[in-house]
Amino acid sequence: MKIVLMFGTRPEIIKMAPIIDEVFKKSLKLILIQSGQHYDYEMSDQFFEDLKLPSPDYNLSVGSGKHGEQTGKMMERIEKVLIEEKPDVVLVHGDTNTALSGFLVASKLHVPVCHVEAGLRSYSNTTPEEINRKMIDVCCELYFAPTEESAINLSLEGVSREKIFITGNTIVDVCLRNRLKISKKQLNKNHELRNLINLDNIITLTIHRAENVDNKKSLNNIVDVLCEMEHANIIFPIHPRTKKALKRFDLYEKLFNLNHVHSINPLGYLDFLLLLSNSSLILTDSGGLQEEAIILNIPILTLRNNTDRPETVTAGGNILVGFQKEKILKLTNCILNNEDIANKMKNAKNPYGNGNSAEKIVDIILNSYENNELKIESVENIINNFTLKIVEVKENINVFDFEKKNNAKIRIVYDKNKSKFPINDLNLKNKFILYDQIG
Ligand code: UD1
Ligand code: UDP
Repeated sequence: MKIVLMFGTRPEIIKMAPIIDEVFKKSLKLILIQSGQHYDYEMSDQFFEDLKLPSPDYNLSVGSGKHGEQTGKMMERIEKVLIEEKPDVVLVHGDTNTALSGFLVASKLHVPVCHVEAGLRSYSNTTPEEINRKMIDVCCELYFAPTEESAINLSLEGVSREKIFITGNTIVDVCLRNRLKISKKQLNKNHELRNLINLDNIITLTIHRAENVDNKKSLNNIVDVLCEMEHANIIFPIHPRTKKALKRFDLYEKLFNLNHVHSINPLGYLDFLLLLSNSSLILTDSGGLQEEAIILNIPILTLRNNTDRPETVTAGGNILVGFQKEKILKLTNCILNNEDIANKMKNAKNPYGNGNSAEKIVDIILNSYENNELKIESVENIINNFTLKIVEVKENINVFDFEKKNNAKIRIVYDKNKSKFPINDLNLKNKFILYDQIG
């Protein structure tokens, strides 16, 4: 089996790293394609060094650009590579333009696509990420959903349940493994952080989402909030998009002049984990950080009005604060000064698995390939129609047997008003089910 793995941005490199390790462990043939969406050393190469990743087989060097321009360039270049390499399967991750391009090109070439971190939804079509991930989730061959919630999202949108696997998130694998390696000694190389890491009341701040930083009002709002947080030491590794926006809106100097805000370059993964481990609180609009916070037991306030990681909020580790100044300041004070509140957030249970997601994912791909299931082909039997039905099941029967008996595909099971993903051995007695009747 020849696997092509696509990545291009910082979080894709980090979260795909455990899968790359696992594919090598199993001695499978792997081709790495880096789109070049992120290209600064701080956003790209330093993660290859920290995570000891091999150099990509192809760097498509697409660089930055408007969505159409960037996605178009990627597609053109990815297509050439896939035609040349003829892989059996393509892996894409998450919701970036790199993932969308890889998915579109591979699907049109009838190369099966596996979507890692599938099924996340914020239910806001105003962000490029939501558009990308919904497009990708239309027709992959395998979907690796981090949680039951994300699996349910896919199932309700009509993805066949046998293509969906709840695997946890590879961020747990990479985060926990690398946490064991961190130590203050590593900071000899990073003078900026070495001078800051022993400060009190550290708040790690990251912000980069287009809807936040390309909007003068919300960026101004954030800077206003930071001005009032004098009791804390805010360490702010600035994403290049954010740095450019701060300069464009004349906010960079204002921020730079605040003694308690320490703006630094984006950090490598080990340095960043060390910073997180020494932080009392995280303020962010990052997706990955919402996951890492609950894995590392650090309270987090998310600077967004919605989240594609609702599990972290339900678990109690993450609070959505939007851009409401008073709310952010009040909650920050509570968390820094009230141990009970901070501890309650720290004790929230990580919903993303126990660190073996990459192994699960690669095993599932291998298994599907060996069973000859990983291919795109037309159906052999005539299918006249699909009828969507809801029934209450009265008999003692599990999902697998019900589907077989009724030529059905169950999308969702309702058990006392709680939605459940239809796993094979779930007993359906006295539960409502929504299913497709295949005619
Ligand atoms: C992208 C992803 C986003 C992800 C983020 C991770 C999309 C649509 N967005 O957003 O989902 O959360 O990566 O960080 O794919 N730039 C540099 N150097 C770099 C990279 C970017 O200067 O190495 C600057 C450029 O001015 C560029 C801007 O940052 O225009 C934005 O980069 P881009 O990759 O388009 O989007 P991100 O905001 O990084
Ligand atoms: N990260 C890092 N250095 C930094 C900031 C973030 O290594 O200076 C890591 C962080 O630990 C997480 C990932 O980058 O794993 C998140 O990336 P980002 O916030 O850019 O993207 P998102 O997760 O929002 O897509």
